[in-house]
Amino acid sequence: MCDNCKGKFYVTTPIYYPSDNLHIGHAYCTTATDTLARFKRLQGYDTWFLTGLDEHGQKIERKAAAKGVTPQAYVDEICDATKKLWQIMDVSYDDFIRTTEPRHQAVVQKIFKRLYDQGDIYKSEYEGWYCTPCESFWTERQLKDGKCPDCGRPVEKAHEESYFLKLSKYAPRLIEHIKSHPEFIQPESRANEMLNNFLLPGLDDLCVSRTSFSWGVPVTFDPKHVVYVWVDALSNYISALGYLSEDDSKFRKYWPADVHIVGKEIVRFHTIIWPIILMALDLPLPKQVFGHGWLVMDGQKMSKSIGNVVDPVVLCDRYGSDAIRYFLLREMPFGADGNFTNEALLARINSDLANDLGNLVSRTVAMIEKYYGGALPAMGELEDADRNVIAIAEALPAKVDDLITRMQFSSALAEIWKLVGECNRYIDLTQPWVLGKSEEGRARLNTVMYVLAECCRIVGVLITPFMPKTPARIFEQLGIADGSLGAWDSVEKFGGMAPGTVVHKGAALFPRIDIDKEMQALAALNPKKEEKAEKKEEPKQESQPAAQQKAEEPEELIDIDTFAKVKLKVAKVVAAEAVKKSNKLLKLTVKCGQETRTVVSGISTHYSPEEMVGKTVILVANLKPAKLKGIVSEGMLLAAADDEKGTLRLLTVDGDIEDGTEVG
Ligand code: MSP
Repeated sequence: MCDNCKGKFYVTTPIYYPSDNLHIGHAYCTTATDTLARFKRLQGYDTWFLTGLDEHGQKIERKAAAKGVTPQAYVDEICDATKKLWQIMDVSYDDFIRTTEPRHQAVVQKIFKRLYDQGDIYKSEYEGWYCTPCESFWTERQLKDGKCPDCGRPVEKAHEESYFLKLSKYAPRLIEHIKSHPEFIQPESRANEMLNNFLLPGLDDLCVSRTSFSWGVPVTFDPKHVVYVWVDALSNYISALGYLSEDDSKFRKYWPADVHIVGKEIVRFHTIIWPIILMALDLPLPKQVFGHGWLVMDGQKMSKSIGNVVDPVVLCDRYGSDAIRYFLLREMPFGADGNFTNEALLARINSDLANDLGNLVSRTVAMIEKYYGGALPAMGELEDADRNVIAIAEALPAKVDDLITRMQFSSALAEIWKLVGECNRYIDLTQPWVLGKSEEGRARLNTVMYVLAECCRIVGVLITPFMPKTPARIFEQLGIADGSLGAWDSVEKFGGMAPGTVVHKGAALFPRIDIDKEMQALAALNPKKEEKAEKKEEPKQESQPAAQQKAEEPEELIDIDTFAKVKLKVAKVVAAEAVKKSNKLLKLTVKCGQETRTVVSGISTHYSPEEMVGKTVILVANLKPAKLKGIVSEGMLLAAADDEKGTLRLLTVDGDIEDGTEVG
């Protein structure tokens, strides 16, 4: 621990499922966590902020196969895009853990073995229902109309030899912990939900391994099993700190986590399964799990399958990441769901950022330039109006501290903006343009200008965790070069700015937006969303399942030249065999005119090798080769797949035709 540190602070986001369509909902949780981390750093805590990716599972395996790439190549690409987004949004993580990293896998394997050796994990048979998109097992009782209770999609019957974690054994201890630590699950309503809906009715033991897919961490003592989702995913919070590794200094320094920030739908896993794993490992529990609400659009959680996602990169590009961060944390209370609309975003940018904050800074700096040639005057005698503003500014840091510590980001910003508003009213009240005209008015103006400049500085410091780029721009205009005036300690007392400091008027912090024009531009960027919004007005459409709505969205059109780039050819399957250690892949030898190629195809759950031989199929002939399970696949077969129903049929030709013939 550093000498002057106030203590350590360890904060995490969930590790995300790799998504090729990162949306503003994903950015919400990370922005909040980043703000907390930045705030604690600003206050002098030795802070560690962890985020990362949860890269295993059948869904990834299937998506990668559909794309004709290895699961690792698939997640690598998404990992790069995810890190890029966090860079654009100024997410200051200290570590980014990927569950495919050896440092993580080794720890998961050790944890699994230890729990097995001590009898907390045992082997049995799993029988139930599995929802592939959600990667969740459900019992018959939990299904809703025979479908997944979370997403409403069809489930598959699953029978499998599996390992189970004895949750029931630790339940009484966990119930006691939750009851005696009211701060453990926040907001409080979520603690009641966990107790009443899950813990008190009794816990079923948890399936923690699978044999029906292989993209996961192998169980060392029974390698046909891979560790199944939550034991793998949750362990990231300690594997990233070096738990059970040669260098566990970070683990010793930072564990237990001060807070795991998670979305409300995964509070259950973080407050039941995770504490039980930790109890079984004899480790301290995290101090808090905070379950935030969802960013919704048209009343539904943003999700790619619903098609209502908003791209944060586009928004950051148009309005700057600070404006987006501000909006996310100001618009809705963190514990509750909040609706995202472009109108609300643009209105906030114009009113709070351009009008309130932007104007305050630009008016203050412009007046110091006009009346003092840019050099900040010293304060003179104080009057009530000055004392009022100064009192608000002096009380603000403690309020902000309290609110951020309780994860009330929106209220913290509202408090900061009270000072901004108060300063703007103070300008109207004191009328500096009148004071500037007379000799005695000038003496009074000295105080007014100093109070305003110092308040701008204090606001700049307090918004640093929320809007990392803006404070430097404010300080530049205020002529502040001394880094200590941007520190937390410097706002605990009013009067940090040195008289004589030379201000410089700069560009507007947040240029005003022409809302009508911008709404049109945003609509043009996202025609799909507009289409959906129109549809929503027809009541008939609202009751349709998500999958059906999605099918009705207009497809993006391509021109004939783009289509012509894809070389499709008729091919004949001359040999086929199952790929070793894979439940999905077939290795096919196809004849395509003069050439013979190897194609690895993820179809073994739909076609046996015997059925495949002799089939006439359509080959994507100019696809870049990809390695799958060590075999180079030279092309891809066209098939129609219905992920919802789990059906897949290959495209064949209607009658006799030579292999090698072009399709088009
Ligand atoms: N991989 C698991 C977490 C494992 S943690 C050991 C997971 N991943 S996720 O990608 O589905 O979600 C990551 C986080 O993003 C969750 O906290 C989730 O709530 C959050 N969000 C995803 N969409 C969201 C919104 N539309 N709004 C707010 N948060 C959302 O769960």
